[in-house]
Amino acid sequence: MLIKEGYVDHVPDEGVDIIAEIERMKREKNAIILSHFYQTSDIQDIADFIGDSLALSQKAESNSADIILFAGVKFMAETAKILAPQKRVLLPDLNAGCSLSDSCPPDEFSAFIEKHPGRTVVSYINTSTEIKALTDIICTSTNALKIIESLPEDEKIIFAPDRNLGNYIKSQTNRDMIVWDGACHVHEEFSLEAILDLKRENPDAKIIVHPECELPVRMVADYIGSTSGLLKYSATDNAGCYIVATEPGIIHQMKKRSPEKKFIPAPAKDSTCGCSECNFMKLITLKKIYNTLKFEMPEITIGEDLMKRAYKPIKRMLDISARLGL
Ligand code: 13P
Ligand code: SF4
Repeated sequence: MLIKEGYVDHVPDEGVDIIAEIERMKREKNAIILSHFYQTSDIQDIADFIGDSLALSQKAESNSADIILFAGVKFMAETAKILAPQKRVLLPDLNAGCSLSDSCPPDEFSAFIEKHPGRTVVSYINTSTEIKALTDIICTSTNALKIIESLPEDEKIIFAPDRNLGNYIKSQTNRDMIVWDGACHVHEEFSLEAILDLKRENPDAKIIVHPECELPVRMVADYIGSTSGLLKYSATDNAGCYIVATEPGIIHQMKKRSPEKKFIPAPAKDSTCGCSECNFMKLITLKKIYNTLKFEMPEITIGEDLMKRAYKPIKRMLDISARLGL
């Protein structure tokens, strides 16, 4: 059995140039690599497209490849499969899950919806396919505000699964929203004290924060936004230093766009790397990408009926985003 514990168990031949081989196999197999900003720098550098969750979904829907290799986590690869069912979607390690997605089990969420009838269900893209199938409209951190604002003002809403993003949007829109009590272990791990210490040491630095962070961290932010929002802000703003409260993989792109600026990863309350890395995102490695392209596995498969039900709310999000030019 080639796949052991969720990934291809194969040692590449000695001396093989993994990056050159990945490039060769991409051409030969008409495959593209889509990478999230939280991947390691070496993976971002070989990707055909790097983006946030929204841009990655848009790219998955519109490309001419036969194979999409997803350098990201499972809900992202599943979303790509739902949007491009005719393509093969490969994920180099099936263990690349998401604590936020796991914080919303489908049976409990289904009971929650039943307990609050008559509400439109808006779910963050960081959910399982089963949760998407129970949802009316999907959103990402880039378009969440706009998606909520696109609904009639008196619409009653359930927002899931992220309590931080949900409460942030609720505070910005004043909508009637019941928020599911889920969270991401990475974004809840930032230490406010350590961030404030860094700010004292770097008084001109701006604190930029992902909305999945807790309220005290959001309260000290100069800017709150999705990964692409943070990237755009740091590239166009005129400060020389930024304390970055999201997964530090994004800093690779920030440095590329603004080599003259300094980027400091916000420290976690308790970590070995001094930052807040997503252990799921970091399960993907160049070696696993090489093996996955070589053996064309592990592959994402989803039952047809589930896929059809999950497609509708994702498509609704993409249509609203296209209408709003997002
Ligand atoms: P975005 O890249 O869409 O902001 O999402 C952040 C995230 O946590 C992805 O897992
Ligand atoms: Fe999930 Fe958090 Fe990792 Fe994003 S950073 S993939 S929300 S666990």
